[in-house]
Amino acid sequence: MRTKLAAGNWKLNGLMSDLTEIEQLASLIGSPSAEVLICPPATLIGTMVQTAKGSPIKIGAQNCHHAQNGAHTGDISAEMVADAGASYIILGHSERRADYGETNACVRDKTKSAWAAGLTAIVCVGETLDQRKSSNTLDIIGGQLAGSIPDLATAEKLVVAYEPVWAIGTGLTPTLDEIGEVHDFIRARLERRFGEGVGRSVRILYGGSMNPKNVDEIAHVSNVDGGLVGGASLKAVDFAPIVLALSKA
Ligand code: PGA
Repeated sequence: MRTKLAAGNWKLNGLMSDLTEIEQLASLIGSPSAEVLICPPATLIGTMVQTAKGSPIKIGAQNCHHAQNGAHTGDISAEMVADAGASYIILGHSERRADYGETNACVRDKTKSAWAAGLTAIVCVGETLDQRKSSNTLDIIGGQLAGSIPDLATAEKLVVAYEPVWAIGTGLTPTLDEIGEVHDFIRARLERRFGEGVGRSVRILYGGSMNPKNVDEIAHVSNVDGGLVGGASLKAVDFAPIVLALSKA
């Protein structure tokens, strides 16, 4: 069985004063059966690892450079992220693909580097609204999976997040059937490429306007193994019910 994963993506949000949210989250969730992860901005990783010590909350990053070190002003490496105490890293988020032109090849290189540093990579894929309207969603997702995930994936090293671009931060979500169709497709592609054993054990998260109200029904869709949550992960009172709903699903 795949352990559900409740992953929070804080994006460009979070100051030292917000570390109290982690303390509050820990007290609200107790010992949930779902795995719990918060990915704050890089400036908070080290401190948040200390704050979360003794709680089930794991800490991750939102990006890294593909190189281990060198002349890349302003960047951080996967090794630095791991050194700061993080265990996960989000890669290929649609905001990075859009804002920084990250290609599938670029995401694949970063994922290799994350794996070399011992991190679990959450590789994001998702279609734009135009792509969905022209009904080539599965082609787009298939291409992103093939191009962004390196060979030799394992369930310890890889999580896939399906995040329709048009559902991120908009309050819109696909229908449950639409979510199920894409998640089943991703599962089939993972099994075909990595074999049934690995393909069946890699977790597939849904992301895009997940909140305490819709988490329960989304969590019961086939091949949904958790959520990648933006806005609703910033406050413990919103994220805790998501963690608890995923723990029950
Ligand atoms: P959202 O963001 O939950 O605010 O829609 C999800 C994400 O981008 O990971």
